[in-house]
Amino acid sequence: ANMEFYLSQVTRAQEEERKRVAREIHDESIQSLATLALGIDAIARGKEKLSEDVLRRLKGLRAETDSILDGLRCFSHKLRPGVIDQVGLVAALEILTEELNKENSVKTSLEVAGSERRLTPETELALFRIAQEALHNVKKHSRATEAKIRLKFIRSKVKLTASDNGRGFELPDTLSDFATEGKLGLIGIQERTRLLGGKLLVRSWAGRGTTVVVEVADIQGMKG
Ligand SMILES: Nc1ncnc2c1ncn2[C@@H]1O[C@H](COP(=O)(O)OP(=O)(O)OP(=O)(O)O)[C@@H](O)[C@H]1O
Ligand SMILES: [Mg+2]
Repeated sequence: ANMEFYLSQVTRAQEEERKRVAREIHDESIQSLATLALGIDAIARGKEKLSEDVLRRLKGLRAETDSILDGLRCFSHKLRPGVIDQVGLVAALEILTEELNKENSVKTSLEVAGSERRLTPETELALFRIAQEALHNVKKHSRATEAKIRLKFIRSKVKLTASDNGRGFELPDTLSDFATEGKLGLIGIQERTRLLGGKLLVRSWAGRGTTVVVEVADIQGMKG
């Protein structure tokens, strides 16, 4: 019970810390870089007569600033996908899988079944984080060529499945065993599922891939 309490505190603290870092990136770094970009523009368009060479180099610096800005926006978006609150889990998962497809490593698809509806913000954020970590693991460990996220809206439940066709791995007796090796991804998934009062199933077959299934009750769905 102590370990569980500890893990739930760590999960909450992590989410808080991510929010703080995302806000800092947004408010500080992005703002400063935007100011820097304006400064470069001001020099380029200033009264002083600049040589072609200097202008070309300023243009290069400006382009580099823009690409750092893009990177930071993308990063802060990953830390705190505010997009979930606005457009919902399904659209956020679409963005996530599209991003992975752009990387050209694992072909990733999203499949939505049942009567699509909005869930509580906590549930949507947790399911998004779970999908994100599962896909992160696919990329990092599986050597899979294909990954699939399935989201199924059942009457009073929602089921999220992340599967790949990779090499699989041997599951320890309990997922907590990973913690001692400093591996916190699957344990984080377990913890998020527990906080939602849901059920987690991790299965893996040598040479045939891995499946992570999370099932949570949807109280709103039950009412509706
Ligand atoms: N989709 C997968 N395919 C193959 N192996 C996997 C997959 N997912 C997890 N594993 C194995 O399970 C281990 C535990 O995963 P977990 O996400 O908990 O830790 P990690 O990814 O190693 O580290 P962290 O998530 O903390 O960065 C991994 O080290 C890897 O060996
Ligand atoms: Mg991991």
